[in-house]
Amino acid sequence: MNAARKIYCRIYQKVFRAALPLLPYRNPVIRHSIEDVNDIMQENKLKRPLLVTDGQIRGLGLTKNLERHLSENGKQPVVYDRTGANPTTEMVMEALKCYRAGECDCIIAFGGGSSMDCAKAVGACVARPKKDLKKMAGILKVVKKTPVIIAIPTTAGTGSETTLAAVIVDSETKHKYVINDFPLIPSYAVLAPSVIKSLPQSVAAATGMDALTHAVEAYIGGSTTGMTRADAEEAVSLIFANIEAASRHESTRSEACMLKAAHLAGRAFTRSYVGYIHAVSHSLSGKYNMPHGLTNAVLLPIVLEMYGSRVYKKLARLAVCAGLGDEDEGEEKLAKRFIAEIYSMNERLGIPKRIEGIKKEDIDELSMYADREANPLYPVPVLWDRRELKKIYRRASA
Ligand SMILES: [Fe+2]
Repeated sequence: MNAARKIYCRIYQKVFRAALPLLPYRNPVIRHSIEDVNDIMQENKLKRPLLVTDGQIRGLGLTKNLERHLSENGKQPVVYDRTGANPTTEMVMEALKCYRAGECDCIIAFGGGSSMDCAKAVGACVARPKKDLKKMAGILKVVKKTPVIIAIPTTAGTGSETTLAAVIVDSETKHKYVINDFPLIPSYAVLAPSVIKSLPQSVAAATGMDALTHAVEAYIGGSTTGMTRADAEEAVSLIFANIEAASRHESTRSEACMLKAAHLAGRAFTRSYVGYIHAVSHSLSGKYNMPHGLTNAVLLPIVLEMYGSRVYKKLARLAVCAGLGDEDEGEEKLAKRFIAEIYSMNERLGIPKRIEGIKKEDIDELSMYADREANPLYPVPVLWDRRELKKIYRRASA
């Protein structure tokens, strides 16, 4: 990247970093059991929830306990279960119709990132009934309070239950846009291991590696705070200790630890951002519909290696948090061990070393999207332009 653009990027990031303590971030109240949902509603004098989920999750019977529990307590939910992998404006409007027809007063988001996104967007529409959903794209366009949102994640990965973003696809133009505002942060997050019990091993592994990528990218970036560093360190420590056992569903404890880790990593990156790994991953999922967690897992050690000595100090600290060595062993040695362990962990989790299916002729366009997403916003340790970003695609597919 040329010097002028580098200066522009760093100034842009410094401004956002300076504003960070002034922004009204809040943390959802954490609960650990589906049975807590009735208590939450009672505490808030809520009577009728809109349950936003997807057909696959409901088809697998994952929402059964929750629906029964609510009905037994006189709070029969109105169910919207047509959220797709990428929620569209049409889906949000359908769900909103259900909310209004059912005279709901709160929203339960049950699922992975997409159900959360859809539920948050419904919340935004309830808060701003006269404002078009598209007009809320961008930053701070919702402003008003949404109904209470109770988020129940079904994977230990996205951390979406604590973030302020909702990604929506325009049904007409197919364009993806993001609504970012503080009222979209759910009021409650129910981190219940029973919900992730039946997750297929490969999904649990890939989503867990997504959480690790959130923690690492937030930590090595230039916009951290004492709190986001502590959250990221704890998340890394929990993930290294639990991801394998949790993916194989060996113990409820390991699953609970992964849910906590994904939540902490979500708290860290919603304040301190992600980096080039996510930008490249998003370009790949947009073009080829590749699973986000899987591409992140493959890219994580590759990009950390490419950053070189600029990230040794921080990776060395993470290596110690992960229990891979002692502080006095030297930064370079520890950082390289941290990266090597991610390669090994990927292998043990059945994650491939390379990404299949990246077409050479697409790399130019893909790198343009990654550049556009990451620069100047993401406070990455080393700045790369489109030309330099192409190396990541080549290395990941070689
Ligand atoms: Fe992610």
